[in-house]
Amino acid sequence: MESGHPRNYSKFSDNQGSLWPPLHSVNIPQNDSTDDEKSDPRNFCYRHLCLLYCFIFLLVFLLVLLTFYLHTMYKPQIPTYGIDDLSVKTLNVMKDLSLSAEFDIVVRATNPNEHIGLAYGKDSSVIVMYSDSELCSGKLPAFRQPVVNATLMNVVLKGHTKYGSGLQEALAENRRNKSIPLLVRLEVPLSVVLGSLPLRKIVVFVRCSLEVDNLQPGKKTKILYSDYSYDVRI
Ligand SMILES: *[C@@H]1O[C@H](CO)[C@@H](O)[C@H](O)[C@H]1NC(C)=O
Ligand SMILES: *[C@@H]1O[C@H](CO)[C@@H](O)[C@H](O)[C@H]1NC(C)=O
Repeated sequence: MESGHPRNYSKFSDNQGSLWPPLHSVNIPQNDSTDDEKSDPRNFCYRHLCLLYCFIFLLVFLLVLLTFYLHTMYKPQIPTYGIDDLSVKTLNVMKDLSLSAEFDIVVRATNPNEHIGLAYGKDSSVIVMYSDSELCSGKLPAFRQPVVNATLMNVVLKGHTKYGSGLQEALAENRRNKSIPLLVRLEVPLSVVLGSLPLRKIVVFVRCSLEVDNLQPGKKTKILYSDYSYDVRI
C-alpha cells in the first residue's frame, strides 16, 4: 500500500508532464513575444469580465432560488369571487327608448392564502351584460383583505342601454321562459401583501355566466345557474 501511493502520484505527474508540453509547444509558436505584451491587459479585462458574469449569474441564481422559496413557502393562490345575490331595483324603459337599470349584487370575495393578504385597488369594475349589451356597471370597494378571509361586498350597479327591438324581443322571450342569461364581468386590480409589505400588482378577471329566473324590480331574483372562469394578468 505504502509503496503503491508514491508510484500513483509519480504516474499522475508523469502523465501531466507528458500532456502539457505538447500543448505549450503548439501554443507558443502562435503567440509571439509581441503578443505577450498585449495579452496581459487583455487577461486582466477578461478576468474582470468573467468575475462580473459570475456575479450576475450568481445574482440571477439567488433570485430564482428566492422566488422558488417564496412560492413553495407561501403557496400563492388566486382569490375567488362569487355572485351570492342579485336584486333588481329598477329596470325601466325611458322616453328616449333606453333601458335604465339599477341592480344590487352581493359579491363574495375569498382569499384562500394563509400568508398573503390582498389590497383591493380603486379601479375595479363590475359589469352586467345581457346579450352583448352592457346593462349596468359599478365598482368594488377598495379595502384590505386579511389572510384566509371571505368578505361579502354589496355593490350598486347602474347604467343605461340602448333598448333596440332585438334586445326587447330576446328579453321578452327569456321572461316567458323564466330563464334570463346574464354575464357579470369583474376586473379586480390587487396588490399582493406579504406581512405589511405590498409586493406586486396583479389584475384578476372573472367572467360569471349566470342564469336568473326574472328581472322584475321588487321581486326576488333567483340565480338558477352560475359558471365562473378566471384570468390573471401579472
Ligand atoms: C374578513 O375581512 C374583513 C375586512 O378586513 C373583516 O371585516 C371580516 O371580519 C373578516 N372576516 C372573517 C371571517 O375573518
Ligand atoms: C324558450 O322556450 C321555448 C319553448 O320551451 C324554446 O323553444 C325557446 O328556444 C326558448 N328560448 C330560449 C331563449 O331559451
